[in-house]
Amino acid sequence: KIIIVDFGSQFTQLIARRVRELNIYCEIYPFNNLPEINTNDVKGVIFSGSPYSVRQDDAPQVDLSNYHLKLPLLAVCYGAQYIAQKSGGEVQASSTREYGRANLNFVNQENKLFKGINIDSQVWMSHGDTITQMPEGAELIASTESVKVAAYHISNSDTYAIQFHPEVTHSTDGKLLLHNFLVDICGCNQDWTSAAFIDTTIAELKETLGNDKVVLGLSGGVDSSVAAVLLHQAIGTNLHCIFVDNGLLRKDEYEQVLEQYKHMGLNIKGIDAKDRFLSQLAGLKDPELKRKAIGRVFIEVFDDAAHEVTGVNWLGQGTIYPDVIESISVNGPSATIKSHHNVGGLPDFMKLKVVEPLKTLFKDEVRRVGKALGIDDVILGRHPFPGPGLAIRILGDVTAEKVEILQHADSIYINELKAAGLYDKVWQAGAIFLPVQSVGVMGDERTYENVICLRAVESVDGMTADWCHLPYPVLAKISNEIINKVKGINRVVYDISSKPPATIEWE
Ligand code: XMP
Repeated sequence: KIIIVDFGSQFTQLIARRVRELNIYCEIYPFNNLPEINTNDVKGVIFSGSPYSVRQDDAPQVDLSNYHLKLPLLAVCYGAQYIAQKSGGEVQASSTREYGRANLNFVNQENKLFKGINIDSQVWMSHGDTITQMPEGAELIASTESVKVAAYHISNSDTYAIQFHPEVTHSTDGKLLLHNFLVDICGCNQDWTSAAFIDTTIAELKETLGNDKVVLGLSGGVDSSVAAVLLHQAIGTNLHCIFVDNGLLRKDEYEQVLEQYKHMGLNIKGIDAKDRFLSQLAGLKDPELKRKAIGRVFIEVFDDAAHEVTGVNWLGQGTIYPDVIESISVNGPSATIKSHHNVGGLPDFMKLKVVEPLKTLFKDEVRRVGKALGIDDVILGRHPFPGPGLAIRILGDVTAEKVEILQHADSIYINELKAAGLYDKVWQAGAIFLPVQSVGVMGDERTYENVICLRAVESVDGMTADWCHLPYPVLAKISNEIINKVKGINRVVYDISSKPPATIEWE
């Protein structure tokens, strides 16, 4: 595998994505929390960029003697400057910040790193400092017009440094450069595929779990479904899945998803807890109180169900790699992740050992693994859906009647998106119930009813999002259908806010 040392750059995850696209496994570690390097296992190291300047007193530091000369090393941007500064070179502030596209005007194609990369190749720069003197023993291997030291190689070593970012697509030969480093210099085999992941994961799960029992909460979403199928293939009916109907799912989703899971052969128990959730939500208006109530009831219901499985030892979870990176990132775990470390007060199931078969995968890799496992596209392509469900799409207090109205409107909306071939193009969509009444006219009657808002966004990871420019005829059809068919609704509006400053959900 390859180790990526993260100095806090916004592009670090992108480096990992590119490495994995080449079917090579890699892991990211923050510079201040690095594992012991086992040179039998690790084939090479990549240093990321950083928002810091190497000239700052509090700039991130690592012990170079662990890497340089020990293993092939590719240092990107900050990494390149760091090695220069630590090994007898010099880094100074550039007179202007160098940001954006540039073209190589010198390249040494004899050098392994630049094999097949021509002069003029476009590269992408983003830095405020520049290397004015290369470190000892370094040979210049590429330049651009404004950045003389665009890349250097420390002679007689496998240490390479580049000022530009090969991981962004604007560096047109970035992938080739990474390939040169990973395959030709590190000697990696490109054999990390979905099929290989499935084989090794199932073997590891069998080894770790033996005859133990695992409980796992299924949500209908991609991650928990793929985790369940992997576990099921490893330990069969010793995997006990629990699927809770909180009454806040999409219309008919509980029945359909439960049926689908049973069809997949999973050992699953559905639990109808609609009333328990609704009664705890009664009268609650504040979004945070609503979330807390739902979280609390879920834990109670799940704990009860888990206790029915005798002799259970493990809790299965669909945790994926971005969650793991977040919890060990340069900036440390976020406040919310820290807040449940009150082990004494935890419900019993949370005291179980945790097994997380997807914790090394990014979302799209989870989908690919799911596909290779033969999981239905309906599950793999499902839009993200929040844990508190429709409760946070009904502004203010939640009642059974409002849930029913919203389920109806939402199902019309989603079905029309599917019919128009737009569902898979939209990252997430849903309807929101607004507790606002407005005047309308239906036939000869004056109406005074509620508003449904439609939301559809494009996003990569939900952290930022833009509203989708859905075609007017599709919006017109959806609005007509909802107003004609959903009792209690006489007005439909479309949310045209991006995130930030708005959020995807309304609560
Ligand atoms: P926001 O509203 O913060 O949502 O822009 C970003 C993404 O997170 C989902 N979301 C949640 N998911 N529990 C969840 O499991 C929650 O409490 C929750 N709140 C928001 C939201 O649907 C979107 O995909």
